[in-house]
Amino acid sequence: MVGREKELKIRFMPGQCELVEEDVDIPNRRVLITGATGLLGRAVYKEFNENNWHAVGCGYSRARPKFERINLLNSVEVHDIIQDFQPHVIVHCAAERRPDVVESQADAVSQLNVTASGNLAKEAAGVGAFLIYISTDYVFDGTNPPYKESDAPNPLNLYGKTKLEGEKAVLENNEGAAVLRIPILYGEVENLEESAVTVMFDKVQFSNKSANMDHWQQRFPTNIKDVACVCRQLSEKRMLDPSIKGTFHWSGNEQMTKYEMACAIADAFNLPSSHLRPITDSPVVGALRPRNAQLDCSKLEMLGIGQRTPFRVGIRESLWPFLVDKRWRQTVFH
Ligand SMILES: NC(=O)c1ccc[n+]([C@@H]2O[C@H](COP(=O)([O-])OP(=O)(O)OC[C@H]3O[C@@H](n4cnc5c(N)ncnc54)[C@H](OP(=O)(O)O)[C@@H]3O)[C@@H](O)[C@H]2O)c1
Repeated sequence: MVGREKELKIRFMPGQCELVEEDVDIPNRRVLITGATGLLGRAVYKEFNENNWHAVGCGYSRARPKFERINLLNSVEVHDIIQDFQPHVIVHCAAERRPDVVESQADAVSQLNVTASGNLAKEAAGVGAFLIYISTDYVFDGTNPPYKESDAPNPLNLYGKTKLEGEKAVLENNEGAAVLRIPILYGEVENLEESAVTVMFDKVQFSNKSANMDHWQQRFPTNIKDVACVCRQLSEKRMLDPSIKGTFHWSGNEQMTKYEMACAIADAFNLPSSHLRPITDSPVVGALRPRNAQLDCSKLEMLGIGQRTPFRVGIRESLWPFLVDKRWRQTVFH
């Protein structure tokens, strides 16, 4: 599965250096990842790159120097990179998912989450690439879990609505594409605010202040590395079996409210949790949320696809760089 290409390298010798052309192995399975600068996209890029795929990542404001800078709203840029790279697989992670931005800039968000997704799907079909569109459990209203792929969606908020419209735009423009719905994500973050799970860490760590935590909405925190692995496994299965297409669900299987996640985080770092206060009322501020949008993952499991990292293991791995009390670093990790 590898081809050979020439690459220019600088060779250093005592007193001089020279430019030499060397043979390098390039895997001949090609994958293009949108949103490769984001939380999930970074993990997807790494997963493919480390498993004998030639991966090219696209970002936007954070793209340089590692990734290609492509504005997905610019159809010429999208057309050109797909024609140049001729990917076998495209994993479409880019989207706007911040609730405040979604609510305040509805038209711009719809351009990215819906119109650009449909356009990408059309371009993917043009080169015969398998497109995986990443969607969300927020397409369901959360009143009748667990949800199978065939269950009727009914998103409660604008984010869920744009992601569902994105699913439709993708499948209308590319009948061989896949939609992968996933729930709340956590994993290696650049800053704690990047994930709705890791953002709780400071409230957990600073135990001198009591903190209210939602204990109403049932969540299934899912590790980005596990989703990335599912994307790769799905792509590899599809390369052997073209009948693999349509909608799929993947999720962690530990049901927790945010309060329970915060307690589990405290437990993972041997920190106190008595300052955390469970709030059992349904939230009155912000966008409406589904009470329990649990995803039934049996369709992927039947294909032999899946990976689940226990929450306590994954969260410790993700959060230890942000631990304020260095004594715990020494006792827990060294
Ligand atoms: N995070 C969750 O808990 C969660 C849960 C369920 C589903 N999902 C879905 O999972 C996917 C990945 O989410 P994420 O959390 O990784 O998102 P994220 O961290 O917010 O990353 C968003 C990505 O989109 C890129 N982007 C934004 N505008 C763009 C444009 N005009 N052109 C090209 N790229 C653009 C960003 O690039 P720059 O940063 O370089 O500008 C960034 O790489 C999304 O489809 C989301 O709906 C996420």
